[in-house]
Amino acid sequence: MKVVGPLIVVLALVGIAWCCTEYLHWYALFGLVIPYVAFALFIIGLIVRIVRWARSAVPFRIPTTCGQQKSFSWIKQAKLDNPSSKAGVFGRMVLEVLTFRSLFRNNKVEKRDSKLGYTSAKWLFIGALLFHWSMLIIILRHMRLVLDPVPQFFQILEQADGFLQIGLPLLYISDVLIVVGLGFLLARRFAIKKVRYISLSVDFFPLFLLLGIAISGIIMRYGFRVDVAGVKEVMLGLVTFHPVPADQLSTILFVHLFLVCTLMVYFPWSKLMHAPGVFFSPTRNLANNSRAVRHVNPWNYPVKVHTYAEYQEEYGEKMKSVGLPLDPEVVSTNG
Ligand code: HEM
Repeated sequence: MKVVGPLIVVLALVGIAWCCTEYLHWYALFGLVIPYVAFALFIIGLIVRIVRWARSAVPFRIPTTCGQQKSFSWIKQAKLDNPSSKAGVFGRMVLEVLTFRSLFRNNKVEKRDSKLGYTSAKWLFIGALLFHWSMLIIILRHMRLVLDPVPQFFQILEQADGFLQIGLPLLYISDVLIVVGLGFLLARRFAIKKVRYISLSVDFFPLFLLLGIAISGIIMRYGFRVDVAGVKEVMLGLVTFHPVPADQLSTILFVHLFLVCTLMVYFPWSKLMHAPGVFFSPTRNLANNSRAVRHVNPWNYPVKVHTYAEYQEEYGEKMKSVGLPLDPEVVSTNG
């Protein structure tokens, strides 16, 4: 059920968008109202989640470290794995976000010749990298639908992505890689027993949804061609708040757009928030300088304490009378 359920939901979303636009002609709802509402909910959701994170207590340094801490000058520090400065944190964050460095270090425990040992597990790293990078490139290429004139950067990106010069329209490498990446991430949840056991509907749903978006886009480009100029007119109308009727757009475009809108509404409340979340994670964005700097909990309230000096001051006479030793360092105010 945890696999079939999300699949049925995604297929139902496709069916809803298809029927409502192909047969009921609810173009304004699917081409105007839903995109605006979805975008607004996306932004509001992001703000709510980020403000909640920003307000949660992080009184102390809790960075994840996996290398030598800054110590004596003659002990070599692992500057990236145990950063002690903002520059180190920045370097580690950049490498994490762009290259998924922590996934590269992924290990798995295996039994070999009746012994337990660690072996390298690079497949997750490769699959995740393929999916995320191709998705980024596709989203950047989509900017041509909302920018007029299209900046040169996006044109160069498009040319680079289609440089294999296969077919007409040209095959984009990112289109192949996003399907391979998502396919791998999905197959992994079926193939590895332990991962299958811990996988839930919320792990499968985003994968099916993203596959739905990618496949409907690919169908539009390589199958039923859509009027890209018409789509651009509608999209420019949406982003400039001068909407134009979306009546001429093809049904498959509405399916694609509706799935993207679903993703926008779902994103802030799902595990997909790991994308902005990495920047707000105190285990990632703090330098490990706990031994160099004294971090005082800013919420500490003044506590009334009774020092030993005060204790001896109070009970000194009694202690002396029963032969208990007194601390000569404590200077009595009684003389
Ligand atoms: C999460 C966001 C999105 C993803 C991952 C995505 C994915 C894709 C993919 C994989 C393709 C195949 C061709 C290509 O790579 O260009 C595609 C095509 C297309 N997408 Fe999207 N898409 C997204 C958002 C949108 C939005 C918001 C629109 C606006 C209506 C849109 C409109 C189109 C159009 C018109 C095509 C056909 C392009 C062509 O024929 O060259 N997409 N999309």
